[in-house]
Amino acid sequence: MTAMANPDIARIMRHSVQHARDNTYELVDEVLKVPASNYTDPGRFKLEVDRIFHRLPLMLAPSCELPNPGDFKTMDVAGVPVLLTRGQDGKVRSFINSCTHRGTNVATAPTGNARRFTCPYHGWTFGQNGELLAIASAADFGEVDKSCLSLKALPVAERAGLIFGSVDPDLKLDIDDFLCGYDALLEAFNFKDWHLFSSRVLRGPNWKIAYDGYLDFYHLPVLHKDTLNASGQLGNRAHYHAWGPHQRLVAPDRAARELGSKPEEQWTDDLVLNGVWTIFPCISIASFNGGGRGVMISQLLPGETVGESWTRQIYLMEKKPSAEQEAAAHEQFAFLEVVVRDEDYDTGLRQQRALDHGTLDHVLFGRNEGGAQAFHKWTDRIIAASDDELSSLFPARAEAVA
Ligand SMILES: [Fe+2]
Repeated sequence: MTAMANPDIARIMRHSVQHARDNTYELVDEVLKVPASNYTDPGRFKLEVDRIFHRLPLMLAPSCELPNPGDFKTMDVAGVPVLLTRGQDGKVRSFINSCTHRGTNVATAPTGNARRFTCPYHGWTFGQNGELLAIASAADFGEVDKSCLSLKALPVAERAGLIFGSVDPDLKLDIDDFLCGYDALLEAFNFKDWHLFSSRVLRGPNWKIAYDGYLDFYHLPVLHKDTLNASGQLGNRAHYHAWGPHQRLVAPDRAARELGSKPEEQWTDDLVLNGVWTIFPCISIASFNGGGRGVMISQLLPGETVGESWTRQIYLMEKKPSAEQEAAAHEQFAFLEVVVRDEDYDTGLRQQRALDHGTLDHVLFGRNEGGAQAFHKWTDRIIAASDDELSSLFPARAEAVA
């Protein structure tokens, strides 16, 4: 299915092209004040980790990172050890990566392919579906019910070529309810058939300081004047379209430049899907073209303290690059490391130090920064919600802002 077959995607792009033609711009109603302590207070940080990262479904990995039966991946999700596996049946499963004997990680490699996981401590063995297959020296160990000693299973679902999972085994929120229909738009990328090209991890400031930067285009021509905007073509405007807490950002001037003069039948997937797609609370997906069509997925996770986060930059490519394309793809990805590390996160780390030691009571988000405004409001709403209230926050099929 092409992107333009999705009526929402066509409508979103038409909206920005029309605004650019009319020289109008959609703004939110008010300037928003966010307490500076939201970025610096350890108590607030603990609430965010507990109520957001240890509760909500998160986009954990692209499906193409575990393409084959037996593939697995271990990860630390804000302090929780997670093991993702793809079974012989092709299904992805998620577990707490903790042996039910004494608790250490049963899998320690970052990724791999395995039919079973043997705990490195005493040799208990678990299958791809989490079941306890064998206890070492079982007769000596004594009688236990193996069927009750499977790895702790976690909610997980694959949607739009992305793996979503929560680290809360008792999550009452359905993953599809959380997605609010947004996955139907992401489906247009067809990520399930893409390839993992490369990935790396960058250290950043408080996860919300880092994430704010993915939610605005306001800073693009200023902070990135010598890099992303070396051509001088980037505007500072964005339109925000929301499905619950998930938002797609479109640059209206770019939409007009690339699409405005073409009949809609000639609007191609790469053109209508560019811009930034965010998945609450911590994912940004942005399109690039060096060495062939690609996206950089930025996956942000809080670090151990309020002033630290870790961003995994995951570069996916629509097709495996040819030998000639590979150097250009590496160059594209290396460029994005420099932009984010030396411009966004360097600025963000300075912002963190200033907020830690400065006198600002609050920071401001303008009427043109509706994306970050919505993000901060959703963060507050989710933190305030009890487990029972959580699913009522997510609209069955949110209306886009168009
Ligand atoms: Fe930036």
